[in-house]
Amino acid sequence: KGCKLVGCGSAAPSLQISNDDLAKIVDTSDEWIAARTGIRNRRVLTGNESITGLATEAARKALEMAEVEPDDVDLILLCTSTPEDLFGGAPQIQKALGCKGNPLAFDITAACSGFIIGLVSASCYIRGGGFKNILVIGADALSRNVDWTDRGTCILFGDAAGAVLVQACDIEEDGLFSFDLHSDGDGNRHLNAAVQEKETDHELGTNGSARGFPPNESSYTCIKMNGTEVFRFAVGTVPQTIEASLAKAGLTHSDIDWLLLHQANQRIIDGVATRLEVPKDRVISNLANYGNTSAASIPLALDEAVRSGKVKQGQTIATAGFGAGLTWGSAILRW
Ligand code: ACO
Repeated sequence: KGCKLVGCGSAAPSLQISNDDLAKIVDTSDEWIAARTGIRNRRVLTGNESITGLATEAARKALEMAEVEPDDVDLILLCTSTPEDLFGGAPQIQKALGCKGNPLAFDITAACSGFIIGLVSASCYIRGGGFKNILVIGADALSRNVDWTDRGTCILFGDAAGAVLVQACDIEEDGLFSFDLHSDGDGNRHLNAAVQEKETDHELGTNGSARGFPPNESSYTCIKMNGTEVFRFAVGTVPQTIEASLAKAGLTHSDIDWLLLHQANQRIIDGVATRLEVPKDRVISNLANYGNTSAASIPLALDEAVRSGKVKQGQTIATAGFGAGLTWGSAILRW
């Protein structure tokens, strides 16, 4: 069984925050941020917007492009680390889209690698499970988990959503040639937003009264990152995983029409492109306008490149995600 991408869509919050805006709240400058990251602006959710709303808008656009009705969707995968419900956000998107027939909808949490893992999961559901139309949505609002007093992290992230529709097809039309996925829990110490536990004195009174409950008070910390280590991890692993996917597909560097990496830092994107000998004009980048939008970055950049006519039907895309976990992986696609 084959599977192919037949539609894409994206959505971003309306509020734009520039580097100069950030320089008013932390000790930084437009020059520093642009030179070290390539980022100039990012979008941030405001009170009347939500990840569910952005994800639904992106999904609707992908369905329209694919000319597929919400009722014909049989699986929704929401790749996010920032759902609006701890138990998962995908069913709310199913409700908002009005998909009749109650298709399965669930979340995949793998930070900035989430979308690639979601895409590969969709291909497995199609090839092995008889599914026909799968929405893969990457959506994140890391602005909610950033320490806005930490200049080392708050300059990097933005909020957005992107979606693709993956459809079953004949094997001759197959559009997902190969993939390669990894994780390394040991590297978690370099990038995390872990639960922090605060033990309290507690006792159950003889008359049934409780003091100091719950015994464990916990909440997630803001994003903690060792930028240098994460940078090193990305430029080391991403060329390797793309090489592995190319080899599995029987392709070489010269077969890549477009290199589409998770949009974390322009220096990472340039470093990987140089290692893979992909010329600059074959590299997709939009992080100057959006910053690092985590699981949304790849489908957001893909959607802009498709709608602007840059990426054309039949072209080969080498794509890779990398980030917290640590997780990383790649896939070779045909648009
Ligand atoms: N403005 C001005 N100065 C700053 C800023 C800032 N925003 N942030 C840090 N600095 C200072 C530091 O304090 C340090 O000063 P010092 O030398 O006096 O101590 C100096 O700049 C150099 O700091 P470094 O951290 O070494 O700077 P580096 O060149 O490594 O750039 C950056 C930092 C941009 C974070 C880089 O390491 C990076 O992009 N790493 C990858 C991060 C990434 O992509 N993370 C997302 C992963 S995806 C996910 O899953 C969430």
